Amino acid sequence: MKVVVVGAGYVGLVTGVMLANSGHNIVCIDVDSGKITKLLNGLIPIYEPGLEEFLFSSASNLRFTTDYDAARDADIAIIAVGTPQGEDGAVNLSYLYKAAAQLLEVNTQLPLLIKSTVTPGTCAALKEHLKERFSLSDVAIISNPEFLREGSAVEDYINPDRIVVGADDKTLFEHTRILYKDFIERGVEVFETNLATAELIKHASNALLATRIAFINEMANLCENVGADVDALATGMGLDRRIGRNFLQAGPGFGGSCFPKDIAALAYVFRSKGDKSLLLDAVIASNNERPIRLVQNIIKKLPLGINTVGVLGLSFKANTDDVRESPAIAVIKALQKFGMKIIAYDPVAGANALMLCPTIKIVDNPYEIANNASAIVVLTEWHEFKNLDYGMMLERMMHNYIFDLRNMLDGDSLSNLGFVYTAIGK
Ligand code: UGA
Repeated sequence: MKVVVVGAGYVGLVTGVMLANSGHNIVCIDVDSGKITKLLNGLIPIYEPGLEEFLFSSASNLRFTTDYDAARDADIAIIAVGTPQGEDGAVNLSYLYKAAAQLLEVNTQLPLLIKSTVTPGTCAALKEHLKERFSLSDVAIISNPEFLREGSAVEDYINPDRIVVGADDKTLFEHTRILYKDFIERGVEVFETNLATAELIKHASNALLATRIAFINEMANLCENVGADVDALATGMGLDRRIGRNFLQAGPGFGGSCFPKDIAALAYVFRSKGDKSLLLDAVIASNNERPIRLVQNIIKKLPLGINTVGVLGLSFKANTDDVRESPAIAVIKALQKFGMKIIAYDPVAGANALMLCPTIKIVDNPYEIANNASAIVVLTEWHEFKNLDYGMMLERMMHNYIFDLRNMLDGDSLSNLGFVYTAIGK
């Protein structure tokens, strides 16, 4: 198929590259000319493991442009533009509406497949808007929410648990059956439903996963008071197949560009319908409180006065340079409120973090965070943090505290080295 993908961000770029790899003829359109220039020069504007290899191997099926004219002879357009959080948690749909209109300006017959995360009712409203604006009797809109995780987006793309497709006109499913032919042949379930349900599957899935995280984080708090161990708790609970072990890793709270925004958007939809979700409101409140609570626990243990704190990890999770809504940033800001000086290291997210926290010192060598530090705080679960020479770090430190907010280090070894090791939920 000839496909235009609008929006060369995490979702659009991965989708475009991987569809090109499946043999489709792809043009990625983005209004950001800087991004397009980079891509034309073979440079990927985001950090996403594995993407570069596919970008090069699929290059013959892939073009990049800022010009919507590329949609003129396309069979379908995939819209993967940002839908940032607006007022009160409502989703800001301006980029989506603009992209859709620009596509129809060059080709009014173009089916639009919406991958951007939108709340239920958005696709139907967009359809009515476009019909009126372009005086059309119908506009083909398909919802095809994305379930990729940053940092493992390529792997998730190749092996999806399911592909969700929503349309109010059943004939439109034919487009996605062609687009995802190789997945269907491999036996991947393509779940077809109506527009609003497809839109809600995305939000409800993210909300449920976020709820599990908030739940296990509260259990971690309880574990600390009753002598239980949250990792063993999650494992023991997860052995029940109805529960499973996934998304029960206690930590500094959920972050990123999706969970916090999507759960707020879903709570907003309840309110906009004159209803409310007590559960979602509680999950949001619980997650917002998390960094403050963790920092209070750290401060209680540190010597009085101004301390230097060495931070390992700034991205919202490992394997990404994304710091949007990163709990690491929230923890750092809370530590700064207590007067702490921060020296931080992250394998790839330093520059992005500096834009959000200009008053921290970022170092390129992880060992430098230990210089004169009273404590090390582990905030992102980068694998390389497991293999650092902590004995060497201890020699550089003023005091010997280490707070492992991802429960990823070997506490016994660190204690043997002379650290006062604190994990969460133990
Ligand atoms: C999430 C969903 O997992 C994807 O399916 C979805 O496509 C994506 O949002 C989206 O809506 O675009 P992502 O935000 O990339 O993906 O990251 P996750 O791996 O889901 O992690 C989200 C946050 O939860 C991170 O801060 C992570 O550290 C935290 N987390 C995750 C935990 O604290 N504990 C866990 O057990 C799992």
